[in-house]
Amino acid sequence: MKKMRALVAGLVGLMVSATGLSIFDDLKSAQASSSGYAPHGTVTIDGMTVPDIGPLPTSIPMPSTNLNYKAKVELGKQLFFDGRLSKNGAISCAFCHNPMSGFADPRQTSIGIGGGVGGRQAPTVYNTAFNHLQFWDGRARSLEEQAIGPIQNPIEMGETHEHVVSKLNKIKGYQQQFRAVFGTEVSLQGIAEAIAAYERTVISTTSAFDQYVAGDAKAMDESAVRGMALFKGKARCILCHNGPNFTDNQFHNLGVPQVGPLKEDLGRYDVTKAEKDKAAFKTPTLRSIVETAPYMHDGAFKTPEEVVEFLNAGGGANPNLSTLVKPLNLTPEEKADLVAFLKALTGEPIPFQLPKLPKN
Ligand code: HEC
Ligand code: HEC
Repeated sequence: MKKMRALVAGLVGLMVSATGLSIFDDLKSAQASSSGYAPHGTVTIDGMTVPDIGPLPTSIPMPSTNLNYKAKVELGKQLFFDGRLSKNGAISCAFCHNPMSGFADPRQTSIGIGGGVGGRQAPTVYNTAFNHLQFWDGRARSLEEQAIGPIQNPIEMGETHEHVVSKLNKIKGYQQQFRAVFGTEVSLQGIAEAIAAYERTVISTTSAFDQYVAGDAKAMDESAVRGMALFKGKARCILCHNGPNFTDNQFHNLGVPQVGPLKEDLGRYDVTKAEKDKAAFKTPTLRSIVETAPYMHDGAFKTPEEVVEFLNAGGGANPNLSTLVKPLNLTPEEKADLVAFLKALTGEPIPFQLPKLPKN
């Protein structure tokens, strides 16, 4: 009973956060929660001990450099959906992080300005608030740093930072909002802070799994319950997809076949130049995974079933394959159970309305 009440309280808190309201009034444990949060115990497989999976913390980690969140969220949402941040006026962040596709891109790899094809699959914005590093290779440290990247990426939005600032400064609605929120004209830093503030309200939570671990035994069916046991045992998934956001925030090489426009993608190696990081990519969250197909850094797989089949075979052939990946010998029923569990990670729908963009 107590557990259920806590769950409902958590639910209400996060529903509010989805519309960008009062969760921002209560952020005391913010920083600690992104790293030190592990109230769910541990799981040990083959002598390796990792944090258990469990519900997300009810407060969202916020960097102390981006204060006064509440005021920024609505502005950030407008910027996220505004094509005027791109050179041709047509490519908004949401063009590749579409709320109808789980804030990800249903294309195998993204198409940007002028139809230019990028080399990587667009990951979801869901729960990026909890990421320690952003991008498949972790090259951005924060959502603020990440947000201004795509604007001047020649194959994404193709705009210059200078020009986007002067363009938005000519739009009265933005001018007024920047004055009200930041007390300044439109600035690049302000754009970054507002977009990041909005992104931190895009949270996937209160899935069937969360309800199950909070004490509602009926929230997951038997197949998903068996799938959870496999996830934490025979199938070894939890070795990397662990903690409340189902990621260790580390980089691993699964031997994913390289498809799409790039012949080779060295992933994390491009950032660290360490041999062990060759073709290693960031462990993605698995929350709301059924909404965000296709999968992997290059969109190589179309369905969760294909991913499970691939991992059951022990991943792909690669000289740098993670030693954590092994053939799993799952039966057809076990594979189906694992997929049923992945489906049980789908978060509650976020009440969503497109923002009204300032005309001029
Ligand atoms: C043309 C398509 C495209 C556009 C436009 C775009 N993105 Fe992305 N986004 C991507 C791709 C592809 C990646 C992965 C790139 C990589 O890892 O190197 C990505 C990665 C991200 C990530 C990292 C997520 C993670 O888990 O690491 C965030 C956050 C993000 N984008 C937010 C934004 C914001 C904010 C904007 C607008 C300012 C934007 N994107 C515009 C395609 C796009
Ligand atoms: C060695 C660490 C590791 C293990 C073990 C592991 N994963 Fe992953 N998982 C990753 C990494 C890293 C990626 C991204 C790889 C890439 O894009 O090249 C990934 C990607 C995925 C994706 C695609 C997510 C997306 O957004 O594209 C799914 C689904 C997935 N894993 C499910 C599982 C399941 C189910 C298991 C257990 C059978 C499992 N993983 C075991 C590290 C791991």
